Amino acid sequence: MLNWDDYGKEDNTTPQSSPQIDNEVVKKTAEAVAEEKSVTQQAVKEETPQANTNIGEGSRAEAARKAVNALDETAGNEELDEMMANAGRVQVDQKMMINCKADLNQLVPFKYDWAWQKYLDGSANHWMPQEINMTNDIVLWKSEDGLTEDERVIVKRNLGFFSTADSLVANNLVLALYRLITNPECRQYILRQSLEEAIHTHAYQYCIESLGMDEGEIFNMYREVPCVARKASWGLKYTQEISDPDFKTGTVESDKQLLKNLIAFYCVLEGIFFYCGFTQILSMGRRNKMTGTAEQFQYILRDESMHMNFGIDVINQIKNENPTLWTEEFQQEMINLITKGVELETQYGRDTMPKPMLGMDAQKFEEYIKFIANRRFESIGLPHQYPGATNPFEWMSEMMDLNKEKNFFETRVTEYKTGGQLKF
Ligand SMILES: [Fe+2]
Ligand SMILES: [Fe+2]
Repeated sequence: MLNWDDYGKEDNTTPQSSPQIDNEVVKKTAEAVAEEKSVTQQAVKEETPQANTNIGEGSRAEAARKAVNALDETAGNEELDEMMANAGRVQVDQKMMINCKADLNQLVPFKYDWAWQKYLDGSANHWMPQEINMTNDIVLWKSEDGLTEDERVIVKRNLGFFSTADSLVANNLVLALYRLITNPECRQYILRQSLEEAIHTHAYQYCIESLGMDEGEIFNMYREVPCVARKASWGLKYTQEISDPDFKTGTVESDKQLLKNLIAFYCVLEGIFFYCGFTQILSMGRRNKMTGTAEQFQYILRDESMHMNFGIDVINQIKNENPTLWTEEFQQEMINLITKGVELETQYGRDTMPKPMLGMDAQKFEEYIKFIANRRFESIGLPHQYPGATNPFEWMSEMMDLNKEKNFFETRVTEYKTGGQLKF
């Protein structure tokens, strides 16, 4: 196994004699590479500088193909064959969000600059759960009269729902969506989002462990507590079909299936289901209770709002590029889908908050969820379904504008330093 002490030492396991081309495969590869070099040099001489992007395109691709063919072990590899068949330099107008045939290994030129910008912004917001001080939460949670029984239920239910929900989102990204979104800059963001979902699951686990909760009870709530189970199983329903390894887009029906998944996950699961819980925990933090847990949730909320905005941009881009998908009938289906999400979240609000507390009650939650849902409808070009719904928790918007250097609860001053935890 590698360790830092060995790092940089000479590797004595390789033969010290001068390398010889004594293998037929290696020899053929070297010849093909030499041929490619010569073809490229020849092409550069012949073409004008203005035509630089296409110099020797066919010849280079041909030479590369020969080099790959020289490696016996790649013969019959369909994916590689497809990659080589599409091995030309990618032009911006060849790029598409779904069903793109251009080479997906070429990140640039960018077509969707917003996706790359979100990747950069997400990376600039990097944080880790251990950076947040949980001492006050531990004292409060363990003291007899620190929290009311209802407040304890809220903390447990939310950790129970979120600890599973973030895994559902991560699995959907990695096992279904990544493969079907055929754009490299969006895939780059999906990878960033996947890491953030892992950090969120880590954050919940960190809270559960710090507070000494019964881990089995919390991690099984998605199966055992009805209002949590309903939301989790609703999400699972929309990931099942597209996570089948044989599922392919390319027909109107299958493209719609993917679009439905995006709307269910980005607009409802991340865009509505998270907000009741976030509001409950952040309201505790504002009252100086469970401030470490609330701070974890505040960082997560900031990430989630970017995830949702990314998803909305992807949805709208797919709609623009594939207008035949967005039929009246499909729009009505999506309205029903989001409306069902509102119903489930309203029920969750009622179950977790049977009586008024923390300046909130189930009725205010219902109003808030409808207000949020209207924004989700609007963001993907659907009409408001709850006209006149207002925001009873305006303080939530300031929670989104978290300043990394000086956080809302002022429990610490942070500047994340990559590698700051490494010891040499
Ligand atoms: Fe998350
Ligand atoms: Fe997320």
